[in-house]
Amino acid sequence: MTKENIAKLVKKAIKELQQEKVFPEFAVPEILVEHPEKQSNGDYSVNVAFKLAKTVKKNPPEIAEAISTRIKTSKTVKKIEAVSGFINFYLSELFFQQELNLILQQKDKYGSQQSKKTAVIDYSAPNIAKPFGIGHLRSTIIGQALYNIYQFLGWKCIGDNHLGDWGTQFGKLIYQIKKKTKKDWPKLTIDELEKLYVEFHQEAENCPEMEEEARNYFKKLERGDKEAKAIWQACVDTSLKEFDRIYKLLGIKIDYVLGESFYGGEPMQKIVAELAKKKISSQSQGATVIMDNSLPPAMVLKSDKATTYFLRDLATIKYRLKTWQPDLFIYEVGVDQSLHLKQLFSAVKRLGWIKKQELIHVAHGLVRWEHGKFSTRKGQTIHLEDVLQEAVARAEKIIKTAEFSEKEKKEIAKTVGIGAIKYNDLSQHHSRDIVFSWDKILSMDGNSGPYLQYTVVRCQSVAKKAKIKSLGEISFVDLNEFEENILKTVYKFPEVVQTAADNFSPNLICNFAYDLAQKYNLFYNQCPILSPENNTRLALNAVVEQVLKNCLKLLGISIPKRM
Ligand code: ARG
Repeated sequence: MTKENIAKLVKKAIKELQQEKVFPEFAVPEILVEHPEKQSNGDYSVNVAFKLAKTVKKNPPEIAEAISTRIKTSKTVKKIEAVSGFINFYLSELFFQQELNLILQQKDKYGSQQSKKTAVIDYSAPNIAKPFGIGHLRSTIIGQALYNIYQFLGWKCIGDNHLGDWGTQFGKLIYQIKKKTKKDWPKLTIDELEKLYVEFHQEAENCPEMEEEARNYFKKLERGDKEAKAIWQACVDTSLKEFDRIYKLLGIKIDYVLGESFYGGEPMQKIVAELAKKKISSQSQGATVIMDNSLPPAMVLKSDKATTYFLRDLATIKYRLKTWQPDLFIYEVGVDQSLHLKQLFSAVKRLGWIKKQELIHVAHGLVRWEHGKFSTRKGQTIHLEDVLQEAVARAEKIIKTAEFSEKEKKEIAKTVGIGAIKYNDLSQHHSRDIVFSWDKILSMDGNSGPYLQYTVVRCQSVAKKAKIKSLGEISFVDLNEFEENILKTVYKFPEVVQTAADNFSPNLICNFAYDLAQKYNLFYNQCPILSPENNTRLALNAVVEQVLKNCLKLLGISIPKRM
């Protein structure tokens, strides 16, 4: 019995009342179904009577009463009641029993769906020759969670890592590398590359000709000059090695790595021509720009005809449309690129490339550091790998030290540390700035990754200790409040996943998981599960374990074997 089912029942009742002329004719509005705050008000509640008061010319309690008496109870809905204008629905024991059985049968598929749709998810996208930043970490973690969620709902998902590996900055870098280093380019580290790039800007302040030189180098690169290409390739290789280490630590593998450089040459020139032909672009001081009444101009080609980030993004959309025919494009990119993406989406629509497909910018906020808690290796830039390593090191300190072998401890610490970082990011709405506080991230009793991991491990160990092989007949009558809390939470998981997908908000899954884990731990402390062994409680233990596992899987958080 889902929200949609309830909405249908209500809609049907309203239509009947219209046929019988109790209600006048009107288009039935969308029926909002909620879970009441108080359990005594049932499992679902509908407020449509308030919406109809004007049209029906009756007061809400009367309307609610008329609708509720029209809906018959069934095997799954045991009671329908009108209370102060609300229509409350009470689900039956049989419903809960069936749902619990479904969880135990479907296991890791519980909550999943089928779909014929395709989504391209643009996420991670770090920049070559720069360290993997904390913003890219957010994009990687949230983007991967969205990927997992849509895939779980049956979508064909394509993850595309749009590496920042092209652009005028590479002209600067190549110029500086040639000027400052001997030929051994592949040996340059990412830190050295970053330093060279910063130096270029410092030196160019007193030497403006350098800018011109850099432009020439980028032109050379765009024309396929051998030496420029070789230097560029060395930068790409070095960076990718570094990025791969981070992806490995995070346990993330993105389907495609098609950087900006992938979209060079002719396809881009065709787009430039199409923009001109459709009168979408115009010339401004030698550059090609898109004018849009409601937005600032977007640059397509620079005055020296060099391509831009914007043009490469246009080419990327064209490629994705042709290659995958997606229904949905998700861009998990920082909020600082909101304007860029607005301009991009607007241009694509004006070009007529997109009909019913949706383009969505899931914009993440900044990461702020709790004052003084994290020292960087040098200066301002925070190196992500250091953060991840520190998370693992700190996790090692909080796990029980005595019981585990050194190897086991290392493994657990990695799972816990990385899981903690991911959960910290995912548990808040993506648009919010997040504060990085080690104590909170690694807290064992708060809203944290380790807390959820620990709860699953606890369920698993209870199940292991139980001697019962099969749960057999389970009864769900006369449950105490702790048991009932669990029963009345787990069944909401499929709905939560759907809402998280609709709103591009993995944090809703975190909220749900945290709530369930708290209810479970309360139950665990209050109700002996094993002495004497109790089938109903073991069943509750099993469904919590399963549903929490499903949550964590969607969030991309692994579960340690022990903790
Ligand atoms: N590399 C870019 C950056 O770090 C992000 C790319 C986002 N994706 C896109 N299709 N523009 O700022």
